[in-house]
Amino acid sequence: MLRVLQRSASLVAVVWATSIAHAQLISRPVPPADAVERGQKQFVIMCGSCHGADARGDDNGPDLVRSEMVLDDEQGSLIGPVIRKGRPNEGMPAFDLPDAQIQDLAAFLRERTQAAINRNAYQILNVLTGDAKAGQTFFNGAGRCNTCHSPTGDLAGLGGRFRPEQLQTRFLYPRGGRGGAPPKPTTATVTPRSGPAASGTLEFIDDFTVGLRDAEGYYRSFPRDAAKVEIQDPLAAHAQLLRQYTDKSMHDVLAYLASLK
Ligand code: HEC
Ligand code: HEC
Repeated sequence: MLRVLQRSASLVAVVWATSIAHAQLISRPVPPADAVERGQKQFVIMCGSCHGADARGDDNGPDLVRSEMVLDDEQGSLIGPVIRKGRPNEGMPAFDLPDAQIQDLAAFLRERTQAAINRNAYQILNVLTGDAKAGQTFFNGAGRCNTCHSPTGDLAGLGGRFRPEQLQTRFLYPRGGRGGAPPKPTTATVTPRSGPAASGTLEFIDDFTVGLRDAEGYYRSFPRDAAKVEIQDPLAAHAQLLRQYTDKSMHDVLAYLASLK
């Protein structure tokens, strides 16, 4: 989950960065229309079943319009190797395609990301284009925000405290620690194959080792292959939400939060 959070953080940083970064991304050359058209046709046939015909993701594959790799790609330099090798263990098959076809696919994806960035840049200037009523419905419905927050409790007066752009960053990628309070830490419970379970604040985790600080303040580390590790990340719901938002629901929620005066 930590890794997911980090990934989401950089996604947000890229897609929702300052207007300067937007300007840089927007000013990149637009790919030729005929390449975009060829790429689109191929994409729908070969990739659409997993990534969605519009590349916005589907049950079987991630949103490529928000993919950092796609955003940084230059004519297939980054996505080419992924397409040719696939990621068989993660459900992405390999496609043995010639350079020309990879470049067409890259042109189509570039066109998609540019359209999304332009839309977002526009909406950052007009961040309150969303529908507050629809945002409220999302808050109490699909977003399940009301299971952790209340418009008259912890989020009361939010719209008065922050400018819309600040508000946008805060709800998309909260760091915790409101009003000077320390952020709620990510905690972990480790149950070794032999010996008692331990829990505490997660301080380190990679593929091999997990380290936590227990209630007495002792740092304890365990090999991951000999223990069951459960991680409780208080911001996990927010990381998950980043995958769930559509442009519309995101802006509706923002309009709703901004209305909490
Ligand atoms: C059978 C489903 C499936 C098909 C078909 C498919 N993909 Fe994927 N693709 C995936 C999955 C699942 C992932 C995520 C893999 C991972 O988690 O590392 C992925 C990842 C990717 C990534 C990497 C995104 C990133 O940010 O890491 C790119 C680029 C990509 N696919 C492009 C394509 C293109 C282009 C096609 C068509 C030629 C295609 N895919 C066809 C399932 C699919
Ligand atoms: C499972 C619980 C959970 C859910 C669901 C959840 N959040 Fe949060 N949210 C948190 C936590 C934890 C924080 C970090 C602040 C804290 O430590 O209390 C936070 C922070 C925030 C903040 C920043 C508040 C501030 O004062 O800086 C906003 C705004 C927010 N969430 C909005 C939302 C919205 C909108 C949704 C639904 C689309 C949502 N949250 C869903 C747990 C949740």
